[in-house]
Amino acid sequence: MGSAIAGRTDEQVELVNEIRRLKKARNAVILAHNYQVEGVQDVADFVSDSLALSRMAAETSADLIVFCGVHFMAETASVICPNKTVLIPDLDAGCSLADTIDADQLRAWKAEHPGAVVVSYVNTSAEVKAESDYCCTSSNAVRVVQAIPEDREILFLPDYFLGSYVQRATGRKNMHIWMGECHVHAGIRPEAALEQIESHPDAELLVHPECGCTTSVLYFIEDGTIPRDRTTVLSTEGMVRHAQSSSAQRFLVATETGILHKMRKENPEKEFIPVNDRAVCPYMKMITLEKLRDSLRDGQYEVCVPTQIADRARVAIDRMLKIS
Ligand code: 13P
Ligand code: SF4
Repeated sequence: MGSAIAGRTDEQVELVNEIRRLKKARNAVILAHNYQVEGVQDVADFVSDSLALSRMAAETSADLIVFCGVHFMAETASVICPNKTVLIPDLDAGCSLADTIDADQLRAWKAEHPGAVVVSYVNTSAEVKAESDYCCTSSNAVRVVQAIPEDREILFLPDYFLGSYVQRATGRKNMHIWMGECHVHAGIRPEAALEQIESHPDAELLVHPECGCTTSVLYFIEDGTIPRDRTTVLSTEGMVRHAQSSSAQRFLVATETGILHKMRKENPEKEFIPVNDRAVCPYMKMITLEKLRDSLRDGQYEVCVPTQIADRARVAIDRMLKIS
């Protein structure tokens, strides 16, 4: 072990320098999701939510995109940028929510509801997106559903908690919701949110719509158990922005704990408390600095979506990007 420099060992400093050298030599851009480990966030060019990262992938002039996130995110970048090489540092970085529905299951569901408009959350495989009319993320799901004519039936997938939140926010009756969930967010329970609010009466509560507590939190707001003006449902990047603009000094954060790093870094004078400190996504944490270095050095692992699937998936993604 070398000596610590600003909290890092000499080996870690050298690793970061090597990543920067390789990045320049390859004309690469490093995109990292808000749930990535701290070291990866710190070396990335952009750290944000899935919608913003999709936009950055679409706009970058780099030849190579290294996506530090989970597989469906790298696939989305590859679909948007068919002429660029997209790498993910670990091919096993999957998503338990995306795994709750495959293209065959979606085709069977569509057959039960002919004529319905299919809205797929970005946490789905490219094959599922190819079977969809619209894609959406947590930051634009409400706007996407509002853009669909009132009389059209909607199939919303795969997240049940997000779907229920959108249904409530839009008042939409003709919407069917797939019963999928993210095991990390499902574990953020309403009792934990209530307990934290009671222990920190001055704090604001920030909730990701995938959480197991979202529907109950909205109910608690309506029955007055928790204050409406101190509770907000937001995407990960929406939470980061809200933490900056709010005058509150303390925040209870109901999502994966990786986001706390960015919030604390940008707001050192404010306090951020996880609603559940065990809400850690094992897939997001598979990406390490060593794997990022290997990825840039060895050009691994390329994420390629077959053209006929990518062309169809792109239609659903482009419709989303136009709305938001
Ligand atoms: P965001 O779109 O809010 O970044 O969320 C993505 C995700 O995977 C949440 O678990
Ligand atoms: Fe998937 Fe949940 Fe991890 Fe997000 S936190 S990538 S939804 S498993």
